[in-house]
Amino acid sequence: MEAFLLDWLNLLVRWLHFITGIAWIGSSLYFIWLDNHLEVPRDAADMEKGVGGEVWSVHGGGFYHAQKYKSSPSPLPEKLHWFKWEAYSTWLSGMFLLGLVYFVGAEVYLIDRSVADLSVATAISSALAIIAGGWIVYDLLCKSPLAQDPRVFALILLLLSSVLAWGLCQLFSGRAAYILFGASLGTIMVANVFFIIIPGQKQMLAAVQRGETPDPAPGLRAKLRSVHNTYFTLPVLFVMTSNHYAMTYSHEYNWLILIAISVAGALIRIYFVARHAGKASPLPAVVAVVLLAIVAASMAPRSAPAHAGAVSFAQVRNVIDARCVSCHSAAPAHPAFPAAPLGVMLDTDDQIRAEAERIYRQAVVSKVMPIGNLTAMTDEEREIISRWYQSLKDSQ
Ligand code: HEC
Repeated sequence: MEAFLLDWLNLLVRWLHFITGIAWIGSSLYFIWLDNHLEVPRDAADMEKGVGGEVWSVHGGGFYHAQKYKSSPSPLPEKLHWFKWEAYSTWLSGMFLLGLVYFVGAEVYLIDRSVADLSVATAISSALAIIAGGWIVYDLLCKSPLAQDPRVFALILLLLSSVLAWGLCQLFSGRAAYILFGASLGTIMVANVFFIIIPGQKQMLAAVQRGETPDPAPGLRAKLRSVHNTYFTLPVLFVMTSNHYAMTYSHEYNWLILIAISVAGALIRIYFVARHAGKASPLPAVVAVVLLAIVAASMAPRSAPAHAGAVSFAQVRNVIDARCVSCHSAAPAHPAFPAAPLGVMLDTDDQIRAEAERIYRQAVVSKVMPIGNLTAMTDEEREIISRWYQSLKDSQ
């Protein structure tokens, strides 16, 4: 019952996280688009009012006219919309989900004893320390003179996030390492909104309300942080879906794959930001596509060496019974699973035969099953599955 309720909580929080994430990233992409499409106002009166740029658009059966002021409008409007709760609620729901899946289920999802033999308490506290530490290091760097040259700074960020990706993959299960990488970048993004961008806007507003000219420094700081946020967006979105792609996170070089896909994501974003602003060189997008192609090509499965000696189905059955059925059953014995994970049930011979391809892929190719190798499957047993699968292929 408890596991069933946890599953429902998981469903609802994940749904919420997804919705708030769309609201946040959606509005953030929209505002960048808007900023990059501003044109000189057509009406001289608008210019006099201090409007620096405008955009006309049509959407949902109506015409919209957005104007951006060079500094602040005078008088200030009574009602100002702020965009902050989208970010905060994405972070809160994301952290809750992280706790629910990876901390409550640490033995299953967070820890992989073949990667690092951590206790539950060490694993959870290191994960939290890495997320918090990521923000602290990043924030100090942004405030240091290193942040002055954007190119140098981009290189430093690339280097540090690569170290982060590598380090996480040495400590946690591949799946958790990817999620924690996303959680660290996502935390930086939300902390940028919370600690830098929103307070900066509040300072500007307060100065205007006092009738003073606002100090440009907080605005510039906020701008730098929102530029970083833009380039973190696509890597974080990749990580959110990476759960579904065991071929990436379970790979021997999972950290390198994570870095390469993140760089490709950032490059694609660089291209789109430039394209909104006018003519853009396609180079970043081309490099991103080439990078993804290289990653995919180098991960391509090599044909398995032919193994002598057939195995009997009874041997396969024994392996599955011993290593898989505690979770993959109509009535799983494992307390964490009220129902067979992803509906994969391996109780009967027919079910096993029907899932041969998936069993082979999960237990032999990617080795993500048994998850966290909780049932301690041996290499010999994987070999049995592999030979069985090859003989099925050969007889086809
Ligand atoms: C401790 C529980 C547990 C054990 C033991 C276990 N699995 Fe799984 N299995 C899971 C979970 C959890 C998932 C869902 C993973 C996800 O959400 O991506 C899963 C998913 C799968 C899938 C579907 C993967 C997909 O993405 O389509 C297959 C196939 C599978 N397991 C096969 C096996 C085989 C074969 C074994 C034994 C060698 C095994 N599992 C042992 C928990 C387990």
